[in-house]
Amino acid sequence: MSEEPGAGLDVDAATDMTDKLAAEVARLVPQVSSSARPPTRAELEEIVKSPHATLFLARDDQQDNVVGMLTLITYRIPTGVHAVIEDVVVDADARGGGIGAALVTAALEEAARRGSRNVDLTSRATREAANRLYQRLGFVMRETNVYRYSMQ
Ligand SMILES: CC(C)(COP(=O)(O)OP(=O)(O)OC[C@H]1O[C@@H](n2cnc3c(N)ncnc32)[C@H](O)[C@@H]1OP(=O)(O)O)[C@@H](O)C(=O)NCCC(=O)NCCS
Repeated sequence: MSEEPGAGLDVDAATDMTDKLAAEVARLVPQVSSSARPPTRAELEEIVKSPHATLFLARDDQQDNVVGMLTLITYRIPTGVHAVIEDVVVDADARGGGIGAALVTAALEEAARRGSRNVDLTSRATREAANRLYQRLGFVMRETNVYRYSMQ
């Protein structure tokens, strides 16, 4: 399987939000989370405007549609600039062609540009394609306890 995305594919950080883009992102969300409701355009605008979030979109030039996305979060903490990759997803019809790798690579470059020395992400073990992808790109499993406090 090639790491190079096919010709006609662009990976860029979103700089504004439109109704069309919001609908395309909303179509991808259920493919990465069965419980999250699709985001509204206003919520996506909040992400695009945030200095701490970068929404990367993979776009098929020929079809003029979004085929994948991820969000890179960066913020300064006392020990440095923390970077986390969230909500990585490629449309089911477009998987296996290197789009996921292109998205993650773009996020790693941006995290380095922002001064982060490490990039963290989590992925359930059942997400086999995702876990393979991250390890192939150089992510190494850390031994740490991951906790969640649920607000309910
Ligand atoms: C994980 C995901 C983003 C990968 O996107 P992608 O564009 O397929 O990524 P790539 O093509 O760069 O590589 C993915 C790996 O999965 C394999 N793969 C993914 N989909 C495949 C498919 N439909 N058929 C065959 N192989 C597939 C690729 O061959 C590749 O394996 P390799 O690393 O052993 O070569 C995508 O599978 C996805 O959106 N999954 C559902 C959401 C998800 O799990 N997100 C991750 C959250 S942590």
